Amino acid sequence: MDNTAAKARIDFLTETLHYHNHLYYNENRIEVSDFEFDKMLEELNTLERQFPELKKPNSPTERVGGGITKNFETVLHQYPMLSLSNTYNKEELVEFHDRVIKNLDNDTFEYICEQKFDGVAISLIYKDGVLVRAITRGDGEKGDDVTTNVKTIKTIPIVLKSGGYPAAFEVRGEVFLPRKNFEKINEELIKQGKPSLANPRNSASGTIKMQDSKVVAARGLDCYLYSLLGENLDVKSHEEALQKMKSWGFNISPTWQKCKDMDAVLKYIQHWELKRKDLPLDTDGVVIKVNSYAEQRFLGMTAKSPRWATAFKYKPENASTLLKAITYQVGRTGAVTPVAELDEVELSGTKVRRASLHNADEIERLGLHLGDYVFVEKGGEIIPKVTAVDIAKRKANAPAVVYITHCPDCGTELIRREGEAVHYCPNEKACPPQILGKLEHFVSRNALNIDSVGGKSVEQFYNKGLVRTVADLYSLKYEDVISLEGYKEKSAQNVIEGIAKSKEMPFKKVLFALGIRFVGETVAEKLVEHFLTVDKLKAASFEELMKVPEIGERIAQSVLEYFKDPESLKIVDALQAAGLTFEAQASEAKVLTDKLQGASFVISGVFAKYERDQLKDIIIANGGKVSSSVSGKLNYLLAGDGMGPSKLQKAQELGVKIISEADFEAMIA
Ligand code: IVH
Repeated sequence: MDNTAAKARIDFLTETLHYHNHLYYNENRIEVSDFEFDKMLEELNTLERQFPELKKPNSPTERVGGGITKNFETVLHQYPMLSLSNTYNKEELVEFHDRVIKNLDNDTFEYICEQKFDGVAISLIYKDGVLVRAITRGDGEKGDDVTTNVKTIKTIPIVLKSGGYPAAFEVRGEVFLPRKNFEKINEELIKQGKPSLANPRNSASGTIKMQDSKVVAARGLDCYLYSLLGENLDVKSHEEALQKMKSWGFNISPTWQKCKDMDAVLKYIQHWELKRKDLPLDTDGVVIKVNSYAEQRFLGMTAKSPRWATAFKYKPENASTLLKAITYQVGRTGAVTPVAELDEVELSGTKVRRASLHNADEIERLGLHLGDYVFVEKGGEIIPKVTAVDIAKRKANAPAVVYITHCPDCGTELIRREGEAVHYCPNEKACPPQILGKLEHFVSRNALNIDSVGGKSVEQFYNKGLVRTVADLYSLKYEDVISLEGYKEKSAQNVIEGIAKSKEMPFKKVLFALGIRFVGETVAEKLVEHFLTVDKLKAASFEELMKVPEIGERIAQSVLEYFKDPESLKIVDALQAAGLTFEAQASEAKVLTDKLQGASFVISGVFAKYERDQLKDIIIANGGKVSSSVSGKLNYLLAGDGMGPSKLQKAQELGVKIISEADFEAMIA
């Protein structure tokens, strides 16, 4: 087939498959059999492989899993993803209602009640009816770009069919793993002797971040949408937004309801608390939203959540079960965590066998005795909690639990620092779980992200005596790896390449990866911004460290101790010699110049030369500030293509200077 014929056929198949997808997922109709559909899909897939340049960016073949995403790009949310305030009983809900009445100065408004879906929040951005980006919630300000994986979710339209949608808008909702799929996957995993998935919510959040979108596609995620955002949407209420989203082809749970007063809201809650078991997914409460957008705007937001909505959370399910034993886990910093080993019990549809007991104080607070029956509860957290002892069931002579005095792994006597609740094993250099924990942390996704090396490989390297410290990873040879059980040529090669590639990771990641106690990602970033090089950091005094924003005594002391320790220094030297990055790159430095000192910017739209994140870095590196909304105090609106007209108008009204990409470049030249 020549290029022209291939193009015509690819265009035809793409169009036809989009059409049938739309019929199937949005209109619940079919016009072709599964067999015919699959044949067309297969043909398109083959043609796309032969003529990759002709493949459309939103090809229906993406639905069956595109390829491997190595790193998820972090992107800024156009509108921050806030959370909801919570209420846990009728009284708190009525308090919320009274506040709304007081603020609106009327009680004639309506609410929309919806399920609180227990999945993973997602933001989907559409331009001209095409899904261009899917972003996880992340920290609310920025999230991970998971577009490739989201495209495998069959109820999320890649291309909108019906017209009438705005040129640019964003929808938000919850990605979830339907309970049925969760159970099926677990049955299969158990059959294969593999560890099963903990619960549907966890599985959904793990799945959406998987690197192979084929695996994501196979899991069968789904998504319900519940928010519409954008400029000039011409929508007056949440009800209208839900209806419009549905008409554009989005999956809206049919369970929402308009409620005219608190009685109706309470009835809705009562109804769904019982009926939620019939829904295809887990829900952990009900969300109550003021319907009118004008009233929502009037009520506004607090720093964290809107005043026009709240979540009513169901009481967490709890159950009583036998405490069989307490085991103790030693983490990478030597911190010891006691774990309750329980007789298996079912909670909110999940089998629970273990629960965290946090520390010795918690055991004392609970007054645990061996052989006790305890109440376990599953709240918002993934790990269940032991909430109380079922005293009535305690045997007369049951001995009280005595906290261990020595490390369960290496036998060293534990220490407990003054003012701290946690016991530590001080044998940092030779206690196996601490060594393994440090190695695992070093390669983990948020550290050096060496994804070809996981917990199991690290353990193998350690057990074979190949690796004792993180620096030893860089002396590993292909022959060492291939000689280990389970490795083939390709996987061994991946390990070596993955380790070599980590040398390109920025200094802040390297510093975090070292696993210095209390140096999390943010602290590592602050230290790098301030000191710029490892030599300056090594030479820093306690007072100098304390000058860094967000760094207090505890962290300063820990950093000081780390760089005083000859063994740590040996590791740092070896990593430096291996070629890892120990100097900040331009964008990591807090302030490179003071050209934009004190100036505030809002960045909006799309730019020819820069991503928005890059512009943000440049502004900060030159002493400026970036904010998200236009106000009278703002100095500059950095305007790119396609920016929202309302932002522009507001900036003009408030007399904010509007600058182009070129103006900005001139400012920092
Ligand atoms: S509306 C300003 N509606 O709950 C927040 N959120 O704590 C607007 N969620 O991150 C969110 N079901 O992931 C909304 N029907 C629903 C929801 C819902 C679940 C989640 C969402 C959000 C979290 C807020």
